[in-house]
Amino acid sequence: MALDWKNLGFQYLDTHCHIKYTSKDGQWDAGELVDSPYLNIHIAATALHYGQAAFEGLKAFRGSDGQVRIFRPEKNAERMRTTARRTFMAEVPTELFVSAIKKVVTANEEFIPPYGTGGSLYIRPLLIGSGPKIGVEPSAEYSFIVLVNPVGAYYKGGLNPVNAMVVDGYDRAAPNGVGHVKVAGNYAASLEPASVAKQAGFPINLYLDAKEHRFIDEFGTSNFIALKDNTYVTPVSDSILPSITNMSLMQIAEDFGMKVERRPIEIDELNSFEQIAACGTAVVVTPVHKIVTANKIYEVGDGTVTSQLQQLFDTVTGIQYGEIEDRHNWCELLD
Ligand code: PLP
Ligand code: COI
Repeated sequence: MALDWKNLGFQYLDTHCHIKYTSKDGQWDAGELVDSPYLNIHIAATALHYGQAAFEGLKAFRGSDGQVRIFRPEKNAERMRTTARRTFMAEVPTELFVSAIKKVVTANEEFIPPYGTGGSLYIRPLLIGSGPKIGVEPSAEYSFIVLVNPVGAYYKGGLNPVNAMVVDGYDRAAPNGVGHVKVAGNYAASLEPASVAKQAGFPINLYLDAKEHRFIDEFGTSNFIALKDNTYVTPVSDSILPSITNMSLMQIAEDFGMKVERRPIEIDELNSFEQIAACGTAVVVTPVHKIVTANKIYEVGDGTVTSQLQQLFDTVTGIQYGEIEDRHNWCELLD
C-alpha cells in the first residue's frame, strides 16, 4: 500500500472493507465483511431521527517485532455496552466486539502503518438503530459496524503543546445527561463551540462542569490530566467519558511511583500545575500550555514538555508498539 505513512494526519481514507452485523429481536447475526463504504439504511432509522447512535475508538499498532497489537479492546466493548444501555440499543457482547475487530483488522492488514512511522490503524466501532420508527421509541433492529482508518497525529506536531479555549455559553454535558457515554449527539453538540475555538486559533476546547462552571470536566475529544509534585491529577465527574488512555496512564503513573488523585479540579487551580495535557486514543497525550476563558488566561508551565509527561507518553506508546513489556496484558495480539 503506497500511503504517505509519516504524514497521515487524522482524516478519512478508504480501506478494503468494513465488517457489519445486524441484530433483530435481540439476536446478532454472523456478520460479514463488506467492500462498499456505503450503507443502505431505512429512511426512518432511529439513528437518523432520534440519535440512537454510538461509537468507539481504539487502535491497532504494528510493533517493533512485526506483530500487530490492539490496545485494550475489551475496555471499549465494555464502554460501548454502557452506551448501548443508556441509549436503549442492543448490546454487543465483548466476544463479538473483539472478534469483529480482529476480522476487520486482518482483512485490512496492509493499511496498518509500518513500525517506525508513528502511525496506527484507528478502529471505529459503530452501533446504530437501523430499523424504522416514527414515534420516539427504540429501534427493533441494530447494526454494528467496524471500520478502520490508518492515522497519524490528531494535532500536528506530536508532543508539541497546544492551547485550549473554554468557549463561553456552551456546555458539553448536563448533570444526569449523557456525557459519560459515547453517543454520537455529544459530538454534534461540540461542533459549534469547536468552530468558535478554531476560528480564535485554538485547536482544542476545554469544558467545565455544566452546573457551576467551576470545575474542569474534560476536553472535547479527550480527558484532562495534570501533573504536579510527583502527582497525577484527573477530574472526577459524572459527565465525562471514562477514557481508556487515562485509565492506562494512571496505572503507568502508579507503576512509576507517582501518586494518582481523582478528584474535582477547580479551574482556578490550573496555575498551580507543572503540566497539563489531553489524553485519549486519537490525541494520545497532547500537552496543553495556555487555557483561555472569557475573562482569564491561564498559563501552565513554560510551554515545554516535562520529563514526567514524556515518560508517560513513551511508556504507553512503547507498550503499544511492543517496545516495552506489556506487564498488565493490555495488548491483544492479532493471530
Ligand atoms: N473524552 C472524550 C469526549 C472522547 O471523545 C474521548 C475519545 O474517545 C476520550 C475522552 C478519550 O477516551 P479514550 O482514551 O478511551 O480514547
Ligand atoms: C477517540 O479518541 O477515539 C475519539 O473518539 C476522539 C474523536 C476522534 C471523536
